[in-house]
Amino acid sequence: MRVIHSLAVAFGLACAVLPAQARDWATIKQSGSIVVASEGAYAPFNYFQGSTLTGYEIDVMNAMAAKLGLKVEWRALGFDALIASIRQDRFDAAIASHGITEERQKSVDFTNPHYCSGGQIVTKAGGPTKGSELANKVIGVQLATTYADAAKKVTGAKEVKTFPKDTDAQQALISGRVDAWVTDRFVAKSAVEKNASAGLKTGELLFVERIATVVRKGNNELRDQLNKALAELKADGTLKKISEKYFKEDITCQN
Ligand code: ARG
Repeated sequence: MRVIHSLAVAFGLACAVLPAQARDWATIKQSGSIVVASEGAYAPFNYFQGSTLTGYEIDVMNAMAAKLGLKVEWRALGFDALIASIRQDRFDAAIASHGITEERQKSVDFTNPHYCSGGQIVTKAGGPTKGSELANKVIGVQLATTYADAAKKVTGAKEVKTFPKDTDAQQALISGRVDAWVTDRFVAKSAVEKNASAGLKTGELLFVERIATVVRKGNNELRDQLNKALAELKADGTLKKISEKYFKEDITCQN
């Protein structure tokens, strides 16, 4: 009784002091659900259909959680806030098309990738389609992304405009406020199809990247469990099936 009492007190104190949400595997498993954040403005990967968060990554995480016997409690927040929030223990994981980079690996851990992609130039008729043509051009990108990093590395660009959402950068291209938009190649493909009258066209792939789920640094058991679930989804064909539902092709990493 005493033990239970002091445990309860200790637990109460921990709750009062820490707004902790990034929990270890045992705690998550016991609670029956994992708290996962995404953005919700990056179709077809993560977006809102009415008030429902949906997309390739939402389906992938729901399927991973199901393999682990868990439900997902979803949160949505701005892309640039996701890594900082993981570090502040505000949720257990984030799935929002984060490329695995050395810089990010200094502050968070990644699972194995759920897809492989790259940053591509999107433009309008007569606009720059190659990296070498971006000199003296205005480039639009989403803030805190690998596209922003790539755009800043372009030599001689006139300006790099950063937008809170990738869809804002897309709109800026459509309305002619930027000459080129750098985004994910599958986002680009879908945007070109959806905005047929805007005359968007895709150009050169500037870099490739592997996209994975983010967890708190050192949350190894959670990372391992998510990797195990992902491997099962690969092996039983579910991952490919989810990919084909959103992209009509298999975008999962082949090596
Ligand atoms: N793949 C890019 C990166 O790693 C962009 C991801 C943007 N994700 C989003 N949900 N808007 O930075």
